Amino acid sequence: MYCTLLIQNCGQLLTMGSVGPGPLRGAQLSNWEVLEDAFLACQDGVIVSVGPMSELPAGFIGPETQVIDAAGRVVMPGLVECHTHLVFAGNRAHEFQRKLRGESYLDILASGGGILSTVRATRAAAEEELLANALYHLEGFRRYGITTLEAKSGYGLDRETELRLVRVAREAGRQQTVRVVPTFLGAHVVPPEFKGRPADYLNFLAEEVLPELQGEAEFVDIFCEEGAFSVADSRRYLEKAQALGFGLKIHAEQLHDLGGSAMAAELGAVSVDHCDYLSAADAARVAAQELTVAVLLPLVPLFLRQQQYAPGRQLIEQGVPVALSTDFNPGSCPSKNLWLAQSVACLNMGFTPREALAAVTINAAWAINRQHDCGSLEPGKRADVLVLDVRSYEELPYWLGENPVRQVIIGGQVQPA
Ligand code: NIG
Ligand code: FE
Repeated sequence: MYCTLLIQNCGQLLTMGSVGPGPLRGAQLSNWEVLEDAFLACQDGVIVSVGPMSELPAGFIGPETQVIDAAGRVVMPGLVECHTHLVFAGNRAHEFQRKLRGESYLDILASGGGILSTVRATRAAAEEELLANALYHLEGFRRYGITTLEAKSGYGLDRETELRLVRVAREAGRQQTVRVVPTFLGAHVVPPEFKGRPADYLNFLAEEVLPELQGEAEFVDIFCEEGAFSVADSRRYLEKAQALGFGLKIHAEQLHDLGGSAMAAELGAVSVDHCDYLSAADAARVAAQELTVAVLLPLVPLFLRQQQYAPGRQLIEQGVPVALSTDFNPGSCPSKNLWLAQSVACLNMGFTPREALAAVTINAAWAINRQHDCGSLEPGKRADVLVLDVRSYEELPYWLGENPVRQVIIGGQVQPA
């Protein structure tokens, strides 16, 4: 059997191979496999074999085989970016100045800015402009080695614009090679039309928007926070979304400890995201769930000038499966650099380099229910592979702010530089 693509002479092949039946937790986060001096073989976009070069079957290389010589470099799975607000118009550079002068994220939101200023720009934008923006950002993500990406709506806050944002995310996924997984975040904040009536707005979303999105968006998310939605309102809304067949996610414990993470985990959410203020007691309730992943977003406290980071080390020790993401969005993280996010997780959340790598590959795949498809280099999975310009994975969080990606392969196809 010839293979269509062979990557040989991988100095370190990080397979992130299946360590357990669920998302990796505790010591599992460090126990994934590294093959030294290894090969990876693909057939028609799917991984068929990995192993040491000394065991490479002669029959793998035929006249049609594309051979890449990694020449001793690190080769690993494409990164999975499991939490982004991809589709929006404009930017918030003007608010960056306000923040530097000392205004807080919630103060800017309460004054009608923040998320609401991006909502105004997004409502006013044509669908083509939103699509062009999303494609531009996806190309940036691809250059950082992201091969699968979750994309939330949430800057429309009305029926028509929210449906447009989900449509744009899906269309952007079709027009380029990074796989896009759409999430509905209509419950981002209360729009001006429902000011002071959060429960009415959530009822409207559940009755008039969610039914239109069945088969279009895979997950429903909500921002559970002071100035956004309470735990009780979030629970009622998520239960309705679940009854309609959506997977659940939540933004919780970003700025205050309200208890949203434990609530969503107990409903069976695939992920609970932010967790900067998650208490040890609630972390134990998240850890007790089989599948819920805590998605930590280290660039957000950095960009919001917040001292409090999610207690990553403690969460790992309590057995919570953790993933890492940028949270790319125009307000709290205008960065697509998931390598920098790993560095900051090591520096300010107590991750080791090994744990950080598991958190942006296989555990990030679990956080968007794509673990069968991506996040590790195992036979049967899609051939999403990175060749990196380093010789040891330990260098990855060390080269602060660098992009180590030399080549990106998606579905067995080498991507243009
Ligand atoms: O995940 N916190 C809520 N939502 C986003 C930020 C959105 C924005 O500021 O535009 C987040 O941080
Ligand atoms: Fe977010």
